[in-house]
Amino acid sequence: MTESQTIQSSMVETRKFPPPARFASQAHINSPAEYQRMHRLSIDDPEGYWRETAKSFVWFEPFTRVLKWDPPHAQWFVGGKTNVAYNCLDVQIDRGHGERTAITWEGEPGDGVTLTYRQLRDRVGQCANALKSLGVKKGDIVTLYMPMVPELMIAMLACARIGAPHSIIFGGFSATAIADRVNDAKSRIIVTADGGWRRGSVVPLKQNVDEAVKSCPTVQHVLVLKRCENEIAWTSGRDHWWHELVDSQPAACPPERCDSEDLLFILYTSGTTGKPKGIMHTTGGYMVYTAHSAKYIFDLKPDDVYWCTADIGWVTGHSYITYGPLQNGVNVFMYEGAPNHPDWGRFWDIVQRHRVTIFYTAPTAIRSFMRQGDAIPAKYDMSSLRLLGSVGEPINPEAWMWYHTRIGGERCPIVDTWWQTETGGAMISPLPGCTTLKPGCATKPFFGVDVAVVDQSGKEQPANTGGFLVIRKPWPAMLRGIYGDMERYRNQYWTQVPGFYFTADACRRDEDGNFWLMGRVDDVINISGHRIGTAEVESALVSHPAVAEAAVVGVPHEIKGQALAAFVALKRGQTASDDLKKALLDHVTKEIGAIARPEQIRFSEALPKTRSGKIMRRLLKELASTGEVKGDTTTLEDFGVIASLRESDEG
Ligand code: WT7
Repeated sequence: MTESQTIQSSMVETRKFPPPARFASQAHINSPAEYQRMHRLSIDDPEGYWRETAKSFVWFEPFTRVLKWDPPHAQWFVGGKTNVAYNCLDVQIDRGHGERTAITWEGEPGDGVTLTYRQLRDRVGQCANALKSLGVKKGDIVTLYMPMVPELMIAMLACARIGAPHSIIFGGFSATAIADRVNDAKSRIIVTADGGWRRGSVVPLKQNVDEAVKSCPTVQHVLVLKRCENEIAWTSGRDHWWHELVDSQPAACPPERCDSEDLLFILYTSGTTGKPKGIMHTTGGYMVYTAHSAKYIFDLKPDDVYWCTADIGWVTGHSYITYGPLQNGVNVFMYEGAPNHPDWGRFWDIVQRHRVTIFYTAPTAIRSFMRQGDAIPAKYDMSSLRLLGSVGEPINPEAWMWYHTRIGGERCPIVDTWWQTETGGAMISPLPGCTTLKPGCATKPFFGVDVAVVDQSGKEQPANTGGFLVIRKPWPAMLRGIYGDMERYRNQYWTQVPGFYFTADACRRDEDGNFWLMGRVDDVINISGHRIGTAEVESALVSHPAVAEAAVVGVPHEIKGQALAAFVALKRGQTASDDLKKALLDHVTKEIGAIARPEQIRFSEALPKTRSGKIMRRLLKELASTGEVKGDTTTLEDFGVIASLRESDEG
């Protein structure tokens, strides 16, 4: 734990921000005592707590048991039958809210769409019928690879409506990454678009799908939304235009009666090995947890214009653009493009024009805005904002203070929400009407969440001592497994600290019971809030014909939080050059996507290894971040390797 303790001592932060009285007076929960009472109740009697909570949802058949826990396998709301899309849409209409706005969307070029809850329900019904017409049945996994357009949300809800789990692939991934995921899920259908707008250019989504599908034998149909009108290739029989197939369908589509434990979606995330993990989320528990957490953490009210800037292709978008907010009946704002198009004022211009009340983004974005200067946000009227949120990585106190003053006008609480693809919903977060905030701190566990900071043996660490963050009890939105690999599920999450869910995050709990996240403890790094497994990038590099061996490590980066540094040993007969460096970067982009492109590549004859043959990443990390190796090198097999690495040029 020495590494954690160093992080800890540089993070002493004493500023405190109690909830502003104006915010607290209207909040769902507005006193620490009320939070304490509810949290206590939810921990002492979790089944009672969740039974009560689940009552406000529509179940076609009631559940007979709240939790069946056969570690590490949980079932929530056992026997219950429901439909998440129904709870998002029809329930709002039945409450008389059908004419309220569900989605306000803005495309990057400035075009826009708004849909009421009724219109959204009808569009979802049409898309669901179109999927059925292509033979999609309950249980079939549908892959979505789309830009941030309303049809992405429509397609995911259509899947939920007919009980076909979705697998959404972030639009920034490459053809190879698509193929890996489609093959793992054995998807027969992909929904995509001709392209999507990003910084004034077209992202060639359909072209990437065409490339991917060459190695995806299961794919029979590709449903294509016309978005950018860019030219695309067409495979007749396999490809179908959305406007031809979907728009002519009837709107009525009865919701599938899904079992509470039916798969709602899988979502691939990086782990410590090269192969992405298909994280499985099921129906009932996820539905209840995302709605409940969204309500309290974002203090959602019917008049809110709620904007989460994440892409729906990440879990943040699944839980807190679609499922959580819609179940609370708010107006969900969605934006297609880049934050700096046409300039760095775009987001604030959107806030001003759409009167956004809640804004949820990532620290890396905040740091990018900070760098552009205070004058840009100052030009806009952002008085509509009442609450801010942060997610994806620890927010540094400097960025927190900037966000608080320059964006929030010192009047908006900030909810720094800690969670993971695996947790399905936010686990540690302030409740904005009652939590005293500390810049850089995710503060307290949400209802029903039993987190602790422990050592390797599971023993709780004293206050202000770094350790592993674990979750001690099952929670409704927890992952149910890794698709196709239950053994890996057990090994990755349930064996590191016996009996507890292992988050792989380092953390400390302060004297007030607040949790301070300190980054990952495994070989996964966090670039701009996106988890990238270094092993995955290594395997992409090694798949290039010139490369014999590669090691990839994370180094600190001012804007991205972390960046990748790659150390590459070439095959005999290959020579290092700038051209080869560029070729390797392009290769990684092709294999995974631009988000995994290393910031630096260094060539060397060999990589530093221990006598047992393990690459010494610690040394590489030190070298990449400081240019020196001062740490312990006694286990190193050949010290000459370090000397040669130090001399090799930097990327
Ligand atoms: C990892 C999960 C949760 C949605 C986006 C990322 C880091 C996430 C915070 C936060 C400190 C955070 C952790 C976590 N992380 N939120 N508020 N403070 N760290 O989902 O890709 O599954 O990544 O992101 O390291 O384990 P993900």
